[in-house]
Amino acid sequence: MRKAKKNFDTEDYLSAYAYQTDVKAKIDSEMAVGGLWDKMGEHQFKFLLQNGLKPESSLLDIGCGSLRGGVRFINYLDEEKYTGFDISKGVIQAGMEKLDELGLGNKKPTIFVNEGKNLRFEDLDGECFDYLLAQSVFSHLHAAHIEECFENLNKVMHADSRFFFTFHPGPEFLQRSDTDFEYSPSFFIELAEKMGYSIEDLSDEYAHPRKQGMMLVRLNLNPS
Ligand SMILES: C[S@@+](CC[C@H](N)C(=O)[O-])C[C@H]1O[C@@H](n2cnc3c(N)ncnc32)[C@H](O)[C@@H]1O
Repeated sequence: MRKAKKNFDTEDYLSAYAYQTDVKAKIDSEMAVGGLWDKMGEHQFKFLLQNGLKPESSLLDIGCGSLRGGVRFINYLDEEKYTGFDISKGVIQAGMEKLDELGLGNKKPTIFVNEGKNLRFEDLDGECFDYLLAQSVFSHLHAAHIEECFENLNKVMHADSRFFFTFHPGPEFLQRSDTDFEYSPSFFIELAEKMGYSIEDLSDEYAHPRKQGMMLVRLNLNPS
């Protein structure tokens, strides 16, 4: 019999998390990515528009889930400009069904399951994106996964790329539950600076309904 809950202490974290998301997606694919489907979908979409996203921009949606933001981005962007991936087959399947229902398949997005589960971007064959987004992803990851992402970001960013990511802010690292983590803004600032990126805290501007913070990372072309 399939267990409803994986053991996060003894199993590989990302496998356990993907399994849990798959199980949730079978019940409700919108709740599986945190609910607030319309509100959070619109919030992330409008924020990237305010930050210069254009129909001709390319976007990488890291941990795209069941396309809460994705359906809006795909609708807005030109053909072949949206790429999204996720470790959960269940949410990817649900997202593809939503695209069919909305008749958005003609936009030819690239959407795939991140089978390797790591954040080394090996499936993207060196493609670089104008915009990158990780909405409500780092809030569910351990520091080692976030560090891996930062170590490999330069494979998918060009000189003008902008990488936006959200996080649960707190005074210091705190594990709220099996899959929810708080980080202090300084964790990301120090990591970005160590890796040679520039980083900006846009949390006030983002005004997330559940008080997540938002940061912007760019390649630092003028290191001091
Ligand atoms: C809370 S959901 C948010 C989904 C989407 N960004 C949104 O705003 O609706 C977080 C998603 O990140 C995915 N995720 C976590 N780690 C990942 C990784 N290493 N690679 C790809 N997806 C990942 C999870 O499977 C989950 O679907």
